[in-house]
Amino acid sequence: MSSFFAVTSGKGGVGKSSFCVGLAFAFCEMDKKVLLIDMDEGFRCLDLMLGVDKEAVFDLSDVLMGKELEAAVYTYEKNDKLSLIPAPAKQGLIDHFALASFIKDIENKFDIIIFDFPAGMDMPLYKALPESTGFLTVAVPDPVSIRDASVIGSELYKSEINSRLIINRFVYKQSRKEKIKNIDSMIDTCSIRLIGIVPESEEISRLSLNHKLHRKSKAAASFRRIAKRLLGEKILLPKLKTI
Ligand SMILES: Nc1ncnc2c1ncn2[C@@H]1O[C@H](COP(=O)(O)OP(=O)(O)OP(=O)(O)O)[C@@H](O)[C@H]1O
Ligand SMILES: [Mg+2]
Repeated sequence: MSSFFAVTSGKGGVGKSSFCVGLAFAFCEMDKKVLLIDMDEGFRCLDLMLGVDKEAVFDLSDVLMGKELEAAVYTYEKNDKLSLIPAPAKQGLIDHFALASFIKDIENKFDIIIFDFPAGMDMPLYKALPESTGFLTVAVPDPVSIRDASVIGSELYKSEINSRLIINRFVYKQSRKEKIKNIDSMIDTCSIRLIGIVPESEEISRLSLNHKLHRKSKAAASFRRIAKRLLGEKILLPKLKTI
């Protein structure tokens, strides 16, 4: 049975798609077969980040309308354990009933399935995912983003969906200087349990150009820690200075 994860945020541009890719790489390193599903209709980007944009002809809307799965699953060139179903190029094509029935067809074909959602809420689509789906809300260390993450977290909670917080683009020196002084205060504002911190990283910002992360980078290490925690391992938060 696959493990499902859904990545959301209140504010746009906080790094959900980059996070999905980094997390997928980490799961592949753990020898998992991973499927990324780009849910950002009209604004897809995972095909570019994985470098499969030139070959991507079919997308999620095609499989939801009956096209065979294999036609819209594109394999990452550098590791055949990782595949992507791109988002439709136009908006309004992902139907939640069709999505729910499609998920039943794929759930045993991959170890890990990660949905990259657009910013904001889409409860009907969230509800189409299996109940076991782990929701991850991404925020950056900025008061607006933290407040928006708290809105998403409480809306999910009202719908009986628990989510976990990812703090992305963390810079230790900045966190000491600025208004949001420490991770505890961010978590308090958000009221979502933290599951990981991803550093500001030039490598992450260049994913669409390089389509990879160096295994020894701090960014890759942060994704590895999060992937392990998501699979139930107890991995302590390292000293913030070292992230
Ligand atoms: N940890 C990071 N370090 C440096 N740059 C980052 C990091 N995370 C994301 N970025 C950069 O931030 C920008 C937005 O990232 P991304 O597209 O992943 O965000 P998003 O939340 O998926 O956006 P959208 O809401 O539009 O879907 C990109 O230019 C990306 O390279
Ligand atoms: Mg995105």
